[in-house]
Amino acid sequence: MYIAGAGPVGIAAAVGAQLLGAAAVIVGDLNEDRLAQARSFGCETVDVSQGDPKEQIEQILGVPEVDSAVDAVGFEARGHGTDASHEAPATVLNSLMDITAAGGALGIPGLYVTGDPGGIDEAAKVGSLSLRLGLGWAKSLSFTTGQCPVMKYNRQLMMAILHDKVQIAKAVNATPISLGDAPRGYAEFDQGAAKKYVLNPNGYIKAA
Ligand SMILES: NC(=O)c1ccc[n+]([C@@H]2O[C@H](COP(=O)([O-])OP(=O)(O)OC[C@H]3O[C@@H](n4cnc5c(N)ncnc54)[C@H](O)[C@@H]3O)[C@@H](O)[C@H]2O)c1
Repeated sequence: MYIAGAGPVGIAAAVGAQLLGAAAVIVGDLNEDRLAQARSFGCETVDVSQGDPKEQIEQILGVPEVDSAVDAVGFEARGHGTDASHEAPATVLNSLMDITAAGGALGIPGLYVTGDPGGIDEAAKVGSLSLRLGLGWAKSLSFTTGQCPVMKYNRQLMMAILHDKVQIAKAVNATPISLGDAPRGYAEFDQGAAKKYVLNPNGYIKAA
């Protein structure tokens, strides 16, 4: 299983993959602190600033493909290797179609938009991406995307947490902060902090 993106969404997807029994969970990002966070609970990691994740996945698994993959990056994706310095919105989707084995599945919680005024070109400004969909078709890949139906999973995940089957707060490095610290929390999150800030306005989280 390959998960692109080691932000809170990618890390939560990695925990979900472990919970569901994936043999190996590989997380990719270009942020070393976030990759270290993924390794802290047993994931393998790839640094996409070093190049296409395919080669690094082959070094880990012995084969350059996975059974399923998650895009936890979305339209703000950076390119791979030397292209990691700039935005390349179709990078992750094209890469996942390449590395997922025929008949596999792609989960795409990463956000794609209908309009992006700051897009890198005219196509990106209206949410059009240069996708190699023919490859996905030829490999009979399944795609699931859109707003996550969180209530569908809410009860089972709550029970998994209450019965110590998953340590999600530890995995995402949940960090309670006061309302006054919220601007700092947002700024640090924007800079790629390996933390999931949780607003704690009334001090209701005792550990805070
Ligand atoms: N579907 C839903 O219901 C839902 C809910 C919440 C968030 N989202 C979306 O999920 C995505 C992830 O959310 P987040 O809060 O973890 O975001 P985030 O920005 O904190 O994390 C994204 C990570 O992707 C990394 N990245 C950039 N390019 C990459 C590449 N080519 N390969 C691998 N990693 C790359 C970044 O360095 C960053 O660490 C966002 O697009 C967000 O809008 C969707």
